[in-house]
Amino acid sequence: MANIAILGYGTVGSGVFAVVTNNQDVVARKAGQAVNIKKVLDLRDFPGDPVEPYLTHRFEDILEDEGIDVVVEVMSGINPAYSFSKRALEAGKSVVTSNKAVVAQHGDELIDTARAHGVSYLFEASVGGAIPIIRPLMTSLTADHITEVWGILNGTTNYILTEMAEKGAAFADVLKEAQKLGYAEADPTADVEGHDACRKIAILSSLAYGKTVDFQQIPTEGITKITAEDIAYGKEMGCAIKLLGTSKKTAHGISAMVAPYFLPLSHPLASVNGVFNAIFVKGDMSGETMYYGSGAGKLTTASAVTADIIDAIHQKSVFLDWDTSAQLQVEAKDEVPAKAFVRVAFSHKDTAKKTCNDLFAVVKFVELDAFGDEFGLVVDALTEAQLAEKAALLAQAPGIDQVRNIIRMEE
Ligand code: HSE
Repeated sequence: MANIAILGYGTVGSGVFAVVTNNQDVVARKAGQAVNIKKVLDLRDFPGDPVEPYLTHRFEDILEDEGIDVVVEVMSGINPAYSFSKRALEAGKSVVTSNKAVVAQHGDELIDTARAHGVSYLFEASVGGAIPIIRPLMTSLTADHITEVWGILNGTTNYILTEMAEKGAAFADVLKEAQKLGYAEADPTADVEGHDACRKIAILSSLAYGKTVDFQQIPTEGITKITAEDIAYGKEMGCAIKLLGTSKKTAHGISAMVAPYFLPLSHPLASVNGVFNAIFVKGDMSGETMYYGSGAGKLTTASAVTADIIDAIHQKSVFLDWDTSAQLQVEAKDEVPAKAFVRVAFSHKDTAKKTCNDLFAVVKFVELDAFGDEFGLVVDALTEAQLAEKAALLAQAPGIDQVRNIIRMEE
Protein backbone atom coordinates (compact mmCIF):
# COMPACT_ATOMS: atom_id res chain seq x y z
CA MET A 1 0.00 0.00 0.00
CA ALA A 2 1.24 3.51 -0.82
CA ASN A 3 0.47 6.39 1.54
CA ILE A 4 -0.08 9.92 0.36
CA ALA A 5 -0.71 13.28 2.04
CA ILE A 6 -2.56 16.24 0.57
CA LEU A 7 -1.48 19.81 1.33
CA GLY A 8 -4.56 22.03 1.02
CA TYR A 9 -8.23 21.02 1.09
CA GLY A 10 -9.48 23.69 -1.31
CA THR A 11 -11.05 23.13 -4.73
CA VAL A 12 -8.30 20.89 -6.12
CA GLY A 13 -7.38 19.26 -2.78
CA SER A 14 -10.95 18.16 -2.11
CA GLY A 15 -11.09 17.00 -5.74
CA VAL A 16 -8.01 14.80 -5.26
CA PHE A 17 -9.55 13.43 -2.04
CA ALA A 18 -12.72 12.60 -4.00
CA VAL A 19 -10.91 11.02 -6.99
CA VAL A 20 -8.60 8.86 -4.86
CA THR A 21 -11.50 7.79 -2.61
CA ASN A 22 -14.25 7.32 -5.20
CA ASN A 23 -12.05 5.73 -7.86
CA GLN A 24 -9.93 3.67 -5.50
CA ASP A 25 -10.43 0.51 -7.59
CA VAL A 26 -8.97 1.93 -10.80
CA VAL A 27 -6.33 3.96 -8.92
CA ALA A 28 -5.13 0.81 -7.11
CA ARG A 29 -5.13 -1.21 -10.33
CA LYS A 30 -3.05 1.38 -12.17
CA ALA A 31 -0.72 1.99 -9.21
CA GLY A 32 -0.27 -1.76 -8.65
CA GLN A 33 -1.20 -1.31 -4.98
CA ALA A 34 -3.82 0.41 -2.83
CA VAL A 35 -3.39 4.17 -2.50
CA ASN A 36 -4.23 5.42 0.95
CA ILE A 37 -4.78 9.06 1.94
CA LYS A 38 -3.04 9.23 5.30
CA LYS A 39 -3.15 12.94 6.12
CA VAL A 40 -4.59 16.17 4.79
CA LEU A 41 -3.12 19.52 5.81
CA ASP A 42 -5.33 22.56 6.11
CA LEU A 43 -5.57 25.39 8.61
CA ARG A 44 -9.36 25.11 8.61
CA ASP A 45 -11.57 22.50 10.27
CA PHE A 46 -14.21 20.75 8.21
CA PRO A 47 -16.78 19.45 10.71
CA GLY A 48 -18.85 16.61 9.25
CA ASP A 49 -16.75 16.41 6.05
CA PRO A 50 -15.27 13.01 5.11
CA VAL A 51 -11.81 14.61 5.39
CA GLU A 52 -12.20 15.19 9.14
CA PRO A 53 -10.38 12.03 10.38
CA TYR A 54 -7.37 12.79 8.16
CA LEU A 55 -6.98 16.49 8.95
CA THR A 56 -3.90 17.99 10.51
CA HIS A 57 -2.92 21.63 10.98
CA ARG A 58 0.82 20.84 11.26
CA PHE A 59 2.96 20.25 8.16
CA GLU A 60 5.53 18.48 10.36
CA ASP A 61 3.01 15.68 10.99
CA ILE A 62 3.37 14.86 7.29
CA LEU A 63 7.05 15.64 6.92
CA GLU A 64 8.05 13.43 9.84
CA ASP A 65 5.78 10.53 8.85
CA GLU A 66 8.14 8.08 7.15
CA GLY A 67 5.19 6.06 5.90
CA ILE A 68 4.11 8.85 3.55
CA ASP A 69 5.61 8.33 0.06
CA VAL A 70 3.96 11.06 -2.00
CA VAL A 71 2.99 14.59 -0.97
CA VAL A 72 0.33 16.33 -3.07
CA GLU A 73 0.79 20.10 -3.01
CA VAL A 74 -2.48 21.72 -4.09
CA MET A 75 -2.28 24.98 -2.19
CA SER A 76 -2.39 28.25 -4.08
CA GLY A 77 0.31 30.91 -4.10
CA ILE A 78 4.05 30.58 -3.64
CA ASN A 79 4.43 30.32 0.12
CA PRO A 80 4.28 28.11 2.06
CA ALA A 81 3.63 25.82 -0.96
CA TYR A 82 7.21 26.21 -2.21
CA SER A 83 8.94 25.66 1.14
CA PHE A 84 6.70 22.69 2.01
CA SER A 85 7.48 21.12 -1.39
CA LYS A 86 11.20 21.65 -0.95
CA ARG A 87 11.21 20.16 2.55
CA ALA A 88 9.12 17.17 1.44
CA LEU A 89 11.54 16.45 -1.45
CA GLU A 90 14.53 16.80 0.88
CA ALA A 91 12.84 14.26 3.16
CA GLY A 92 12.79 11.78 0.26
CA LYS A 93 9.10 12.12 -0.64
CA SER A 94 7.93 12.70 -4.19
CA VAL A 95 5.85 15.83 -4.69
CA VAL A 96 2.96 16.17 -7.11
CA THR A 97 1.39 19.58 -7.75
CA SER A 98 -1.12 21.60 -9.75
CA ASN A 99 0.44 24.86 -8.57
CA LYS A 100 1.79 26.56 -11.71
CA ALA A 101 2.91 29.63 -9.78
CA VAL A 102 5.40 27.47 -7.86
CA VAL A 103 6.41 25.42 -10.92
CA ALA A 104 7.01 28.54 -13.05
CA GLN A 105 8.99 30.31 -10.34
CA HIS A 106 10.82 27.46 -8.57
CA GLY A 107 10.32 24.46 -10.86
CA ASP A 108 13.99 24.20 -11.88
CA GLU A 109 15.16 24.28 -8.26
CA LEU A 110 12.53 21.77 -7.11
CA ILE A 111 13.39 19.41 -9.98
CA ASP A 112 17.05 19.64 -8.89
CA THR A 113 16.08 18.87 -5.30
CA ALA A 114 14.00 15.89 -6.44
CA ARG A 115 16.90 14.59 -8.55
CA ALA A 116 19.34 15.00 -5.66
CA HIS A 117 17.10 12.91 -3.42
CA GLY A 118 16.12 10.27 -5.97
CA VAL A 119 12.44 11.23 -6.03
CA SER A 120 10.06 13.02 -8.41
CA TYR A 121 8.58 16.48 -8.75
CA LEU A 122 5.58 16.15 -11.09
CA PHE A 123 3.15 18.80 -12.33
CA GLU A 124 0.94 17.51 -15.16
CA ALA A 125 -2.04 19.33 -13.60
CA SER A 126 -0.27 22.69 -13.68
CA VAL A 127 -1.08 23.12 -17.40
CA GLY A 128 -4.35 22.39 -19.18
CA GLY A 129 -6.31 20.73 -16.33
CA ALA A 130 -7.22 17.22 -17.43
CA ILE A 131 -5.42 17.45 -20.78
CA PRO A 132 -2.38 15.19 -20.98
CA ILE A 133 0.28 17.59 -22.29
CA ILE A 134 3.38 17.26 -20.11
CA ARG A 135 3.39 13.46 -20.35
CA PRO A 136 3.12 13.49 -24.20
CA LEU A 137 5.98 16.01 -24.31
CA MET A 138 8.11 13.82 -22.04
CA THR A 139 7.22 10.34 -23.23
CA SER A 140 5.67 10.51 -26.71
CA LEU A 141 7.27 13.28 -28.77
CA THR A 142 10.73 12.20 -27.68
CA ALA A 143 12.23 11.80 -31.16
CA ASP A 144 11.58 15.43 -32.12
CA HIS A 145 13.11 18.82 -31.74
CA ILE A 146 10.05 20.77 -30.66
CA THR A 147 9.86 24.07 -32.52
CA GLU A 148 6.57 25.58 -31.35
CA VAL A 149 4.05 25.29 -28.54
CA TRP A 150 0.95 27.47 -28.41
CA GLY A 151 -2.74 27.56 -27.70
CA ILE A 152 -5.55 28.40 -25.31
CA LEU A 153 -4.16 27.81 -21.84
CA ASN A 154 -6.61 29.41 -19.45
CA GLY A 155 -10.09 28.02 -18.85
CA THR A 156 -11.46 31.02 -16.94
CA THR A 157 -10.72 33.57 -19.66
CA ASN A 158 -11.90 31.23 -22.40
CA TYR A 159 -15.13 30.70 -20.47
CA ILE A 160 -15.55 34.47 -20.02
CA LEU A 161 -14.87 35.27 -23.70
CA THR A 162 -17.24 32.50 -24.84
CA GLU A 163 -20.09 33.62 -22.56
CA MET A 164 -19.59 37.25 -23.57
CA ALA A 165 -19.74 36.27 -27.26
CA GLU A 166 -22.59 33.75 -27.06
CA LYS A 167 -24.86 35.33 -24.46
CA GLY A 168 -23.79 38.96 -24.53
CA ALA A 169 -23.06 38.54 -20.80
CA ALA A 170 -21.10 41.18 -18.88
CA PHE A 171 -17.48 40.49 -17.96
CA ALA A 172 -17.97 40.81 -14.17
CA ASP A 173 -21.01 38.48 -14.10
CA VAL A 174 -19.27 35.75 -16.10
CA LEU A 175 -16.17 36.02 -13.92
CA LYS A 176 -18.31 35.45 -10.81
CA GLU A 177 -19.82 32.35 -12.46
CA ALA A 178 -16.33 31.04 -13.36
CA GLN A 179 -15.29 31.47 -9.72
CA LYS A 180 -18.41 29.61 -8.55
CA LEU A 181 -17.62 26.75 -10.93
CA GLY A 182 -14.12 26.46 -9.45
CA TYR A 183 -12.29 27.51 -12.64
CA ALA A 184 -10.70 30.75 -11.46
CA GLU A 185 -7.58 31.18 -9.33
CA ALA A 186 -8.03 32.33 -5.71
CA ASP A 187 -7.17 35.78 -7.02
CA PRO A 188 -8.73 35.90 -10.50
CA THR A 189 -6.37 38.74 -11.51
CA ALA A 190 -3.92 35.98 -12.45
CA ASP A 191 -6.46 34.63 -14.95
CA VAL A 192 -7.85 37.82 -16.48
CA GLU A 193 -4.49 39.62 -16.70
CA GLY A 194 -2.90 36.65 -18.48
CA HIS A 195 -0.41 35.78 -15.70
CA ASP A 196 -1.74 32.23 -15.37
CA ALA A 197 -1.40 31.59 -19.12
CA CYS A 198 2.07 33.18 -18.99
CA ARG A 199 3.23 30.74 -16.30
CA LYS A 200 1.77 27.85 -18.27
CA ILE A 201 3.48 28.77 -21.55
CA ALA A 202 6.76 29.19 -19.60
CA ILE A 203 6.38 25.69 -18.08
CA LEU A 204 5.51 24.13 -21.46
CA SER A 205 8.39 25.93 -23.15
CA SER A 206 10.88 24.75 -20.52
CA LEU A 207 9.80 21.15 -21.11
CA ALA A 208 9.44 21.44 -24.89
CA TYR A 209 12.87 22.98 -25.43
CA GLY A 210 14.59 21.35 -22.42
CA LYS A 211 15.87 24.50 -20.68
CA THR A 212 14.44 26.92 -18.15
CA VAL A 213 12.27 29.72 -19.54
CA ASP A 214 11.74 32.62 -17.14
CA PHE A 215 8.03 33.50 -17.17
CA GLN A 216 8.88 37.06 -16.15
CA GLN A 217 10.48 37.67 -19.56
CA ILE A 218 7.31 36.81 -21.49
CA PRO A 219 5.30 39.84 -22.69
CA THR A 220 1.78 39.36 -21.31
CA GLU A 221 -1.57 41.02 -21.92
CA GLY A 222 -4.86 39.78 -20.47
CA ILE A 223 -8.49 40.20 -21.50
CA THR A 224 -9.55 43.06 -19.23
CA LYS A 225 -9.52 45.54 -22.13
CA ILE A 226 -11.76 43.34 -24.31
CA THR A 227 -15.25 44.83 -24.52
CA ALA A 228 -18.65 43.88 -25.96
CA GLU A 229 -17.82 46.30 -28.81
CA ASP A 230 -14.68 44.33 -29.74
CA ILE A 231 -16.71 41.14 -29.78
CA ALA A 232 -19.32 42.79 -32.02
CA TYR A 233 -16.60 43.84 -34.52
CA GLY A 234 -15.28 40.27 -34.37
CA LYS A 235 -18.70 38.88 -35.28
CA GLU A 236 -18.94 41.30 -38.19
CA MET A 237 -15.52 40.11 -39.45
CA GLY A 238 -16.27 36.41 -38.86
CA CYS A 239 -13.77 36.13 -36.01
CA ALA A 240 -13.68 34.94 -32.38
CA ILE A 241 -11.43 36.44 -29.70
CA LYS A 242 -9.19 34.01 -27.82
CA LEU A 243 -6.42 34.53 -25.26
CA LEU A 244 -3.40 32.71 -26.69
CA GLY A 245 -0.08 31.74 -25.16
CA THR A 246 2.54 31.32 -27.87
CA SER A 247 6.13 30.16 -27.92
CA LYS A 248 8.49 29.48 -30.78
CA LYS A 249 12.10 28.35 -30.88
CA THR A 250 14.44 30.89 -32.46
CA ALA A 251 18.13 30.73 -33.34
CA HIS A 252 19.24 32.06 -29.93
CA GLY A 253 16.29 31.43 -27.62
CA ILE A 254 12.55 31.63 -27.99
CA SER A 255 9.94 34.23 -28.85
CA ALA A 256 6.90 34.00 -26.62
CA MET A 257 3.84 36.03 -25.79
CA VAL A 258 0.43 35.97 -24.11
CA ALA A 259 -2.26 38.18 -25.67
CA PRO A 260 -5.83 38.19 -26.99
CA TYR A 261 -6.12 37.44 -30.71
CA PHE A 262 -8.88 37.57 -33.31
CA LEU A 263 -9.08 34.16 -35.02
CA PRO A 264 -11.18 33.46 -38.13
CA LEU A 265 -14.09 31.13 -37.29
CA SER A 266 -12.52 28.52 -39.58
CA HIS A 267 -9.41 28.36 -37.31
CA PRO A 268 -9.34 25.15 -35.18
CA LEU A 269 -8.94 27.19 -31.98
CA ALA A 270 -11.95 29.42 -32.73
CA SER A 271 -14.32 26.60 -31.80
CA VAL A 272 -12.55 25.79 -28.53
CA ASN A 273 -15.18 27.23 -26.20
CA GLY A 274 -16.06 27.52 -22.53
CA VAL A 275 -13.58 26.10 -20.05
CA PHE A 276 -11.87 24.01 -22.73
CA ASN A 277 -8.19 24.49 -23.57
CA ALA A 278 -6.32 23.36 -26.66
CA ILE A 279 -2.58 23.20 -27.21
CA PHE A 280 -0.64 22.77 -30.45
CA VAL A 281 2.84 21.28 -30.41
CA LYS A 282 5.01 21.38 -33.50
CA GLY A 283 7.93 18.97 -33.84
CA ASP A 284 10.49 18.77 -36.64
CA MET A 285 9.50 15.13 -37.33
CA SER A 286 5.98 14.74 -35.95
CA GLY A 287 4.62 17.96 -37.45
CA GLU A 288 1.65 19.46 -35.61
CA THR A 289 -0.23 17.62 -32.87
CA MET A 290 -3.10 19.09 -30.90
CA TYR A 291 -4.24 18.38 -27.32
CA TYR A 292 -7.75 19.31 -26.25
CA GLY A 293 -9.87 19.00 -23.14
CA SER A 294 -11.26 20.63 -20.05
CA GLY A 295 -8.69 23.14 -18.83
CA ALA A 296 -9.88 23.87 -15.31
CA GLY A 297 -12.22 22.64 -12.59
CA LYS A 298 -12.09 20.54 -9.47
CA LEU A 299 -12.31 16.95 -10.71
CA THR A 300 -10.60 17.50 -14.06
CA THR A 301 -7.53 18.98 -12.37
CA ALA A 302 -7.70 16.34 -9.63
CA SER A 303 -7.70 13.63 -12.30
CA ALA A 304 -4.36 14.89 -13.67
CA VAL A 305 -2.94 15.20 -10.14
CA THR A 306 -3.96 11.63 -9.38
CA ALA A 307 -2.32 10.35 -12.58
CA ASP A 308 0.93 11.94 -11.34
CA ILE A 309 0.47 10.30 -7.92
CA ILE A 310 0.23 6.94 -9.69
CA ASP A 311 3.33 7.73 -11.77
CA ALA A 312 5.29 8.70 -8.64
CA ILE A 313 4.25 5.43 -6.97
CA HIS A 314 5.40 3.42 -10.00
CA GLN A 315 8.75 5.10 -10.46
CA LYS A 316 10.65 6.79 -7.67
CA SER A 317 12.40 9.16 -10.04
CA VAL A 318 10.41 10.12 -13.15
CA PHE A 319 12.55 11.55 -15.97
CA LEU A 320 11.90 15.15 -17.05
CA ASP A 321 13.84 16.58 -19.98
CA TRP A 322 14.52 19.95 -18.34
CA ASP A 323 18.14 21.03 -18.00
CA THR A 324 17.81 23.19 -14.92
CA SER A 325 21.33 24.60 -15.27
CA ALA A 326 20.55 26.33 -18.57
CA GLN A 327 18.21 29.22 -19.35
CA LEU A 328 16.60 30.11 -22.67
CA GLN A 329 16.41 33.80 -23.48
CA VAL A 330 12.99 35.17 -24.43
CA GLU A 331 13.59 37.44 -27.41
CA ALA A 332 11.44 40.31 -28.61
CA LYS A 333 8.31 38.97 -30.25
CA ASP A 334 8.75 37.58 -33.74
CA GLU A 335 9.59 40.23 -36.26
CA VAL A 336 7.33 38.54 -38.80
CA PRO A 337 4.84 41.20 -39.92
CA ALA A 338 1.21 40.38 -39.12
CA LYS A 339 -2.30 41.80 -39.23
CA ALA A 340 -3.98 43.69 -36.40
CA PHE A 341 -7.38 45.18 -35.68
CA VAL A 342 -7.50 48.79 -34.53
CA ARG A 343 -10.57 50.60 -33.11
CA VAL A 344 -10.62 54.37 -33.09
CA ALA A 345 -13.05 57.03 -31.95
CA PHE A 346 -12.98 59.99 -34.34
CA SER A 347 -13.51 63.71 -33.98
CA HIS A 348 -13.86 63.97 -37.78
CA LYS A 349 -14.57 60.76 -39.67
CA ASP A 350 -13.11 61.53 -43.12
CA THR A 351 -9.93 63.05 -41.66
CA ALA A 352 -9.58 60.06 -39.34
CA LYS A 353 -9.85 57.63 -42.26
CA LYS A 354 -7.25 59.58 -44.24
CA THR A 355 -4.94 59.51 -41.22
CA CYS A 356 -5.35 55.73 -40.97
CA ASN A 357 -4.65 55.28 -44.69
CA ASP A 358 -1.51 57.44 -44.37
CA LEU A 359 -0.18 55.51 -41.37
CA PHE A 360 -1.16 51.92 -42.14
CA ALA A 361 -1.57 49.39 -44.92
CA VAL A 362 -5.35 49.31 -44.37
CA VAL A 363 -6.94 46.04 -45.47
CA LYS A 364 -10.46 47.23 -44.68
CA PHE A 365 -12.52 49.56 -42.54
CA VAL A 366 -15.24 47.97 -40.41
CA GLU A 367 -18.17 50.19 -39.43
CA LEU A 368 -21.06 49.17 -37.20
CA ASP A 369 -24.24 51.26 -37.09
CA ALA A 370 -24.54 50.74 -33.35
CA PHE A 371 -21.25 52.54 -32.66
CA GLY A 372 -21.64 55.95 -34.30
CA ASP A 373 -18.54 57.73 -32.97
CA GLU A 374 -15.96 55.13 -33.99
CA PHE A 375 -14.82 52.65 -36.63
CA GLY A 376 -12.50 49.67 -36.78
CA LEU A 377 -9.84 48.85 -39.31
CA VAL A 378 -7.75 45.82 -40.18
CA VAL A 379 -4.15 46.75 -40.83
CA ASP A 380 -1.47 44.60 -42.44
CA ALA A 381 2.24 43.98 -42.42
CA LEU A 382 3.20 45.26 -38.99
CA THR A 383 5.77 43.91 -36.57
CA GLU A 384 5.11 44.28 -32.83
CA ALA A 385 7.48 47.25 -32.64
CA GLN A 386 5.87 48.98 -35.63
CA LEU A 387 2.41 48.38 -34.21
CA ALA A 388 3.34 50.02 -30.90
CA GLU A 389 5.03 52.94 -32.67
CA LYS A 390 2.13 53.58 -35.07
CA ALA A 391 -0.47 53.25 -32.31
CA ALA A 392 1.29 56.04 -30.40
CA LEU A 393 1.34 58.24 -33.53
CA LEU A 394 -2.31 57.45 -34.28
CA ALA A 395 -3.46 58.67 -30.86
CA GLN A 396 -2.11 62.16 -31.66
CA ALA A 397 -3.09 62.28 -35.34
CA PRO A 398 -5.65 64.55 -37.08
CA GLY A 399 -9.30 63.47 -36.87
CA ILE A 400 -8.62 60.88 -34.15
CA ASP A 401 -10.15 61.29 -30.71
CA GLN A 402 -8.97 58.07 -29.08
CA VAL A 403 -7.45 54.68 -29.91
CA ARG A 404 -9.98 52.40 -28.18
CA ASN A 405 -8.28 49.04 -28.65
CA ILE A 406 -5.72 47.11 -30.66
CA ILE A 407 -6.10 43.35 -31.04
CA ARG A 408 -3.70 41.10 -32.92
CA MET A 409 -5.05 38.87 -35.66
CA GLU A 410 -4.07 35.28 -36.46
CA GLU A 411 -4.85 33.84 -39.87
N1 HSE B 1 -7.51 29.27 -13.24
C1 HSE B 1 -6.99 28.29 -14.11
C2 HSE B 1 -7.74 28.36 -15.44
C3 HSE B 1 -7.15 26.95 -13.47
O1 HSE B 1 -8.80 29.00 -15.47
O2 HSE B 1 -7.28 27.84 -16.44
C4 HSE B 1 -6.51 25.82 -14.20
O3 HSE B 1 -5.14 25.99 -14.33
